[in-house]
Amino acid sequence: MRLERQGGPPPAPGPRGLSVLGVLPRVAANPLQAFAELSRRYGDLYRFDVGPVPVHVLTNPDHLKHVLATNNRNYWKGPVFERTRLLFGKGLVISEGEAWQRQRRIMAPSFQRERIAHLVSIMADEVRKRMRRFEQALGDGEPVDMQLQMMTITLNIVIKAMFSFSIDDDEVEEVANAFSVILKHIDLRFLTFFLPEWVPLPGRAEAQRALQTLDGVVRRVIEQRRREPGQHDDLLEALMQGRDADTGERMTDEQLRDETVTTFFGGYEATANALAWTWTLLAEHRDVAREVQRECLTHVPDDSSPSLDGLLALSYTEQVINESMRLYPPFWISFRTSYEEDTIGGYRIPPRAPLVLCHYLAHRHPDFWRDPESFDPDRFSPERTEQRPRHYLAPFGVGQRMCIGKHFAMLEMKLILSMVVRRYRLELVEGHPVEPFPRATLRSRDGIWMSVHQAEAMT
Ligand code: HEM
Repeated sequence: MRLERQGGPPPAPGPRGLSVLGVLPRVAANPLQAFAELSRRYGDLYRFDVGPVPVHVLTNPDHLKHVLATNNRNYWKGPVFERTRLLFGKGLVISEGEAWQRQRRIMAPSFQRERIAHLVSIMADEVRKRMRRFEQALGDGEPVDMQLQMMTITLNIVIKAMFSFSIDDDEVEEVANAFSVILKHIDLRFLTFFLPEWVPLPGRAEAQRALQTLDGVVRRVIEQRRREPGQHDDLLEALMQGRDADTGERMTDEQLRDETVTTFFGGYEATANALAWTWTLLAEHRDVAREVQRECLTHVPDDSSPSLDGLLALSYTEQVINESMRLYPPFWISFRTSYEEDTIGGYRIPPRAPLVLCHYLAHRHPDFWRDPESFDPDRFSPERTEQRPRHYLAPFGVGQRMCIGKHFAMLEMKLILSMVVRRYRLELVEGHPVEPFPRATLRSRDGIWMSVHQAEAMT
């Protein structure tokens, strides 16, 4: 048996020699397909070398838990994730150690279940405003792009709920476009993570312009608040009042900018993707859609003022959302890098090795999920959920770096589904195939086009 070091665990399998040259172009063309093919060939955990850098891909839920929770002290977000710094700066999602702890402590209370309860009516107002677009589509018969519609709704909600700020429709579109341009550039930065920062990449100037658009909006949000101190009870106020426990200093404007952009992004992109995929699955499974409609009408009978208790009671709808995020996790991959050597699944992970954690494949791993490709919300019935370790389903991550906005997102998704499904039936439009487009997040390549119909009356 060939051992890399005498007595130690072997290196992970994977393409070696000339065959590794073909890997990067395949990953660039379609990373999801490339990772799935390599996994079929080499198993749950494999390695391909990008020059001298040994990149490891993990697809087994237990291995993901090891990295994100059990032995998380040995891992940091690493040089691949660092490539998002141009967007997030020193924002929560990318900070480490004490800086991360301090920021998370300041932000966490704004995301607690009790605190977000009072946001339900703000969220509902925003959904009501945006539903005018569905009413229009019902009248003129023109299909709508649900991916875009969900982005518009979630972006408005996060800005209003967390920053007590409003932007008009044109600006929402500008901000959403700016994020898309920056995300496209970040994809390229991920793929070329081994290059130094100074190497000019295509799309950089466009990304810089998009960042300026974004920063312009953020500056206005902060300036308005400086004129109205202490008048709001929201995340922005917590950020502005938060002090460093040691120095007593408040956050700098730069840190405020970074946390605002991080929350904008976290708050809209993933939630919109999860909802857009859910609408697709509901259109493909009418029986499930009817069950969701029935449950929403029962527990939230009057959506002019939906109650928190009503939304929390939407247990079947929550099963549907979970199953949708199992099949299409919005953050379909995440990154970590090892500090020291480790052993995972019997293989040696070298120090300073970048890891790609593939949640998409972990969520469809046949050893962990029966009939993994099929859409079956009953997998998440209370009885079946109880029998399954929690980390098998991890759209919000695992361990201490788990999503801070989880409860906010779940409440928001239930609210949007409940308000739309009672009024409208959405159908996929022929000639507009829905195809996963796996980049920084899991969008559909050409949007998700749907026709809008009056919901069937419930008997
Ligand atoms: C369906 C919706 C959402 C999904 C699937 C999702 C997923 C995730 C995941 C997987 C992470 C961990 C990333 C990692 O470990 O590398 C994360 C972190 C984060 N999310 Fe979310 N998220 C969602 C909604 C939200 C919302 C609504 C907000 C804010 C309003 C938000 C803000 C954040 C922030 C600030 C972090 C960084 C947390 C930290 O590092 O301590 N997310 N999210």
